[in-house]
Amino acid sequence: MSMSRIVYVNGEYLPETDAKISVFDRGFLMADAVYEVTSIIDGKILAFDGHTERLERSLSELDMKAPCSIDELLDIHRELIKRNNLTEGLVYLQVTRGIADRDFAYPDVEPSLVLFTQAKNVVNSPIAKTGMKVISIPDIRWGRRDIKTVQLLAPSMGKMAAKAAGCDDAWLVEDGFVTEGTSNNAYIVTAEGTIVTRNLGTEILAGITRAAVLRYASEAQIKIEERPFTIEEAQAAKEAFVTSATTFVGPVIEIDGAQIGDGKVGDIARRLREIYLEESLKTAI
Ligand code: PDD
Repeated sequence: MSMSRIVYVNGEYLPETDAKISVFDRGFLMADAVYEVTSIIDGKILAFDGHTERLERSLSELDMKAPCSIDELLDIHRELIKRNNLTEGLVYLQVTRGIADRDFAYPDVEPSLVLFTQAKNVVNSPIAKTGMKVISIPDIRWGRRDIKTVQLLAPSMGKMAAKAAGCDDAWLVEDGFVTEGTSNNAYIVTAEGTIVTRNLGTEILAGITRAAVLRYASEAQIKIEERPFTIEEAQAAKEAFVTSATTFVGPVIEIDGAQIGDGKVGDIARRLREIYLEESLKTAI
């Protein structure tokens, strides 16, 4: 934690030690909250429109009120980036249903809004050069993974299991097929050079990075198949990679101890990472 950080809480910009939320906030009591994470490069926000569109969808699926307009959200992002002198890293945004006495039924209250920054080298991350090792574990999450809620204990347990196995992350498996990574979407590249990634549905989060990367891949004449795949198919694939707002395109070089391709960062993953960075910087605001 950087103690000098300025955090946004319900209309105020406060030193992080003074930034507080009620114990009766439903985000705290019931994980009744949704979030978004955007990357910041050169002080600019990547894929802002995509992330705010998904935020609006998450809110609407949970009948949660929007805390403010999208224009106001953009102003808050920019103010926070400025006040924290953030050139590279991320902005975390969370909306909770609000503060009310504990009850399972939704209360009719005003939502809480919290945003904070995290400085981080997102562009030159070591994982982009070395690739990541993943394990597979059962997907024990709830059935509405298309809503970006803050119920993150299952993915946290997954990360810990990966760490204990000497790996970087875990891919989640349900009914024999990979759903996604703990905090990213999962892909393989077949021997023919086709990108395979799970089709959208309630089983996975519709990644904003996923949408962009699939668009750039298709523009680069790379074939795409949106369908479930197994760990066995992934282990036999030419390449594997993940995407997320903060990882961009993260190459995967090992799955459950099996080397992928030649065990080095794949050409398609490397190329897509370059294209993604170049293109999303053009639309960064
Ligand atoms: N995670 N799937 C899951 C379960 C995720 O948590 C995320 C993002 C993604 C990728 O979505 P996007 O490309 O829009 O970031 C897929 C964020 C980065 C996080 O929890 O930190």
